[in-house]
Amino acid sequence: MSTLAVIGAQWGDEGKGKVVDVIAREAKVVARFSGGNNAGHTLVIGDKKIITHLVPSGCAYPGTLCVLGAGMVVDCDVLREELDALERQGLMQSGELRVSYEAHLILPYHRELDGLREDARRDAKIGTTRRGVGPAYEAKAARRGIKVRDLFNPELLRSRLELNRGVLAPEFERLGGGRGVDVEAVMSQADQWRSWLEPAVCDVGALVHQAVVDGLPVLFEGAQGALLDVDHGTYPFVTSTSTIAGAACSGLGIGPTLIDGVWGISKAYATRVGAGPFPTRVDGAAGDAIRRAGAEFGATTGRPRDCGWLDLPALRYAARLNGLTGLCVTKLDVLAGLANVAICVGYRDGVEPGRDGLEAAVPVYESISGWDDPALRGRLEAARRLADLPVPVRAYLDRVAEAVGVPITLVSVGPDREQTIVVTTPF
Ligand code: GDP
Ligand code: IMO
Ligand code: MG
Repeated sequence: MSTLAVIGAQWGDEGKGKVVDVIAREAKVVARFSGGNNAGHTLVIGDKKIITHLVPSGCAYPGTLCVLGAGMVVDCDVLREELDALERQGLMQSGELRVSYEAHLILPYHRELDGLREDARRDAKIGTTRRGVGPAYEAKAARRGIKVRDLFNPELLRSRLELNRGVLAPEFERLGGGRGVDVEAVMSQADQWRSWLEPAVCDVGALVHQAVVDGLPVLFEGAQGALLDVDHGTYPFVTSTSTIAGAACSGLGIGPTLIDGVWGISKAYATRVGAGPFPTRVDGAAGDAIRRAGAEFGATTGRPRDCGWLDLPALRYAARLNGLTGLCVTKLDVLAGLANVAICVGYRDGVEPGRDGLEAAVPVYESISGWDDPALRGRLEAARRLADLPVPVRAYLDRVAEAVGVPITLVSVGPDREQTIVVTTPF
């Protein structure tokens, strides 16, 4: 296998950054294909903690090309800040970045609109990250978006900005103003973005295709998670893009036959941040205990994540949507020491994710014994082979793999790169 897609199999924040950092050791190209800086991916390498938002999480290896595909939306200020920080830490050189000239830009008025719209929704908020991601994709679908390539054609850029100013002015006025589309301000920022971005901009599809043809190991890095997918997730409480493995093809400009395998990442429990259905959410003290043990606060917005038990029907659904060939289970250490661990094995009345939606789902739980031993966490954190895992933990993994119908390929027992059991070699 020379290419592998890695995607979130829940509601995001499954530990994709950590897993990608581990398996990118062998990769030559790591490519993001959808989303923007609504993503927040955490890498822990010894005493270093890095959070990537736009740069792929394979950035911490010298010589690995980090690629941003056409399906992404790019906030140039955020990208520059991220790259500068990675360079300062000696983790990445700017020459290792490639950005598709077809990717769309997140501009200041997209960010402003995202915030104003959320505020106006009062009790019906989506709970977006307010990074302008939705409005940028909306402009793309409406065929008035602004692409990276437009930075190199100032006349066209100006006319597109003026078009957007005209379209959006009534909405800005209705929502209480703000700066709106400030054409001159964007034009002058564009001069700066153009000059530092130019060396990185290229035909990303051609680059990735050639790398695969040359037999190089290529990793496709997903953002968000299957249940946040705009078509198949808990609509309208979703992000604005396709987050599933199939999007790696359209989001990079390569054919489906180039993807050899797909690994889905799932926590050993479940979390969600933002509004929308979450059938296995645990409220009160028990939910707080999971949040505390797992440090469940958003890597992008710092918001507390809702926590709950692993949802097998939702995971099976994600396995189908993505054609998973492997399952990576993260944060097993977090369950260690909890008094009553449960797992959702189905929903009442035949409700299924995707068919009836999850709004009405009433979970059926099985309780899982053997996790309450206080010594378990230390043993888990120290495990480096499957054989090191305590019996109840192995039984849990077997149960999940069997129910989802996908083999476990990687297990994570702590945030650090080293706290990982790679069961199957990725490439
Ligand atoms: P992503 O968006 O999928 O990359 O995930 P995030 O980085 O947003 O959130 C995952 C969080 O869990 C981060 O704080 C990681 O450092 C942390 N993490 C990842 N794997 C593990 C693990 O196995 N155990 C523990 N305790 N933390 C983990
Ligand atoms: P990573 O890649 C978790 C959620 C937001 C909100 C909805 C729409 O770190 O797993 P948006 O800003 O995209 O318009 O928000 O999607 N969301 C995420 N939740 N992890 C993410 O990314 C997310 N990206 C978006 O909380 O509910
Ligand atoms: Mg995240």
